[in-house]
Amino acid sequence: METMRWLEEGCLELLDQSKLPIEKTYLKCRDHLDVAAAIKRLAVRGAPAIGAAAAYGLVLGTMRLQAHSKEAFVAEVEAIARELAATRPTAVNLRWAMNRLLHKLRTAETKDLRELKTALLAEAKLIYQEDIVNNHKLGEYGQVLIPFGARILTHCNAGALATAGYGTALGVIRAAQEAGKKVSVYADETRPLLQGARLTAWEMLDARIPVTLLTDNMAGYAMACGKIDLVIVGADRIAANGDTANKIGTYGLAVLAWAHHLPFYVAAPLSTIDLGLVTGAEIPIEERESTEVTHFNGHPVAPAGVKAWNPAFDVTPNRLITAIITERGVINQPYLKNLQELMSI
Ligand code: MRU
Repeated sequence: METMRWLEEGCLELLDQSKLPIEKTYLKCRDHLDVAAAIKRLAVRGAPAIGAAAAYGLVLGTMRLQAHSKEAFVAEVEAIARELAATRPTAVNLRWAMNRLLHKLRTAETKDLRELKTALLAEAKLIYQEDIVNNHKLGEYGQVLIPFGARILTHCNAGALATAGYGTALGVIRAAQEAGKKVSVYADETRPLLQGARLTAWEMLDARIPVTLLTDNMAGYAMACGKIDLVIVGADRIAANGDTANKIGTYGLAVLAWAHHLPFYVAAPLSTIDLGLVTGAEIPIEERESTEVTHFNGHPVAPAGVKAWNPAFDVTPNRLITAIITERGVINQPYLKNLQELMSI
């Protein structure tokens, strides 16, 4: 199933991931506010997917604009981009996509509003299409690292659903399967919103890749029992030194992988790399409603009135990362130098 689809009448359809795997329904977004709301409530989620959705959201937001000059138009589009970028702070792909569209707009030679809007839509489509191509490329680079028969632990969902298609961490796993490596997957359920149980397990079953579901607190014991050969995860933002923000729980897995001498791989497109931040300490970490922890599906699972902390992401220090897999190849330590070189190719 497609994560999103653009309808030429001027509508973005988003697969509502908050309802998966029980219901498979598409939300119709007709303006940027619909898209912003969908991103906030995780109807669309995963760093590259929210970048692509926000790009289409910006296009929707410009459709009804009637500015009297290009300058006035750009100012209004910038305001919409700020609104969309503010929906989720950690995944840099969102800001990356907004900046890419704004750059297109500012550098366009035409002042004709219709042409500017058409150029924005073309760029949003490119962001979407390039993401799929990049995921296939990083999958190819990454699968070389995967041994035959590997049992792979992953966290959250870095699959087709988290991207325009194919996936990053799950893209590497798909590519390994396509190369005939007979891999199998252990999927962390990923509390509190269960992206692993609801989405990764669903995607892997659909791709006929053997998958076993674990609750998050079982990962260490699974490693101690010799059930895991390597860990691979996606990323929401990678700082210049390689420190990586990803779904809460990723850091713990990296420490566990280190303690059990297992490779720990991060798979992400270049749009997730933020050379503007020196270390992971500068990455803004989204904190979400405590009710996501105290409640499940609207039902309380903790005593009324208890306080709960709900950071949506954590940061894995670069020293725990065996390699970062991108569409331009695989890099290792020293990440500061190697990421800079990679980005300047
Ligand atoms: O809160 P989510 O579901 O948007 O978090 C998603 C993740 O942490 C993914 O691992 C990350 O965005 C990489 S997706 C290719």
